[in-house]
Amino acid sequence: MPQERKKVIFSAMQVTGRLHLGNLEGALRNWVRLQDDYELYAGIVDLHSLTTTYEDTSEILGNVRQAAIDYLAAGLDPEKTAIVIQSWVPAHCELHALLSMVTPVSWLERVPTYKEKREQLHIASPSYGLLGYPVLMASDILVYRAEVVPVGRDQEPHLELTREIARRFNHLYGDIFPEPQSLLTEFAVLPGLDGRKMSKSYGNCIYLSDTPDEVREKVRAMFTDPKKIRRDDPGHPEQCPVYAYHAAYAPEGAEEVKRTCEAGELGCVPHKKQLGEILIEALTSLWERRAALTADPGYVDRVLHQGAMRAREKTDETMELVWQAMKLR
Ligand code: TRP
Repeated sequence: MPQERKKVIFSAMQVTGRLHLGNLEGALRNWVRLQDDYELYAGIVDLHSLTTTYEDTSEILGNVRQAAIDYLAAGLDPEKTAIVIQSWVPAHCELHALLSMVTPVSWLERVPTYKEKREQLHIASPSYGLLGYPVLMASDILVYRAEVVPVGRDQEPHLELTREIARRFNHLYGDIFPEPQSLLTEFAVLPGLDGRKMSKSYGNCIYLSDTPDEVREKVRAMFTDPKKIRRDDPGHPEQCPVYAYHAAYAPEGAEEVKRTCEAGELGCVPHKKQLGEILIEALTSLWERRAALTADPGYVDRVLHQGAMRAREKTDETMELVWQAMKLR
């Protein structure tokens, strides 16, 4: 029996900094689970980083390499998954130029992340590239003719726009692009050390490149329930990031922690000590793989070249169809 064709997935992370636990639990682990059943392209989108970081670009390349190491250390298998650095695969840019012709500016101006970024970063005069961020993202996805895109809920408007652009292109030139479906990852998102969303800009992250001592220190300084000042004060675990981490990394002990915290039998200081060790144990094998990969830059290079080759093969095929459909070939 002919084997059923595997569906194509493209997903990616932007690398304005190092990857953190939120990236690991929110995205990477999911990709690792999906790589057996799908044709998976795991992007490292360095061009997207330029939309906000274009003045000092000196850290992007280092972050790209670290991200590649993290992808591998988390368990992406380069025999199954193509790890793709966006700027190494020219078709992302080619398709971006073409899609930008068929995308009305008004569609882009109403994308919520555009407004948010402008306000958060106090950008008085936004660049053309920042406005076009979602067109570049649509190009990333459509250039693989990806059918499924695992993303967080915050990316849903970008996916919707990607589908609109695909429909418009197909309507104008013929059916080239499938409409990609988002695969929302539903799990308890790990909060940052202060209980807000984990984000580099809040400085509340545990990075995959942190050392065990850095993790211990960060956990020691974590926020807890502000109403629990002394050990015997009753705690509110559901509002405490230390508990959230405990539940994520050692669910078997979570019930007991909840009971003793609420009963005023467990203090925050010993609980954090315990959590620090739980996290260190949970990350040890990833750290070991990280260290081995860092010691073997030649291997990482080969993986990245191989990923780019596979991506080029796939995306050149799409571009040929696109140029023909547009009657430019
Ligand atoms: N915008 C995504 C984010 O910030 C990153 C991204 C760029 C992406 N291109 C993509 C995600 C294509 C999925 C598919 O997380």
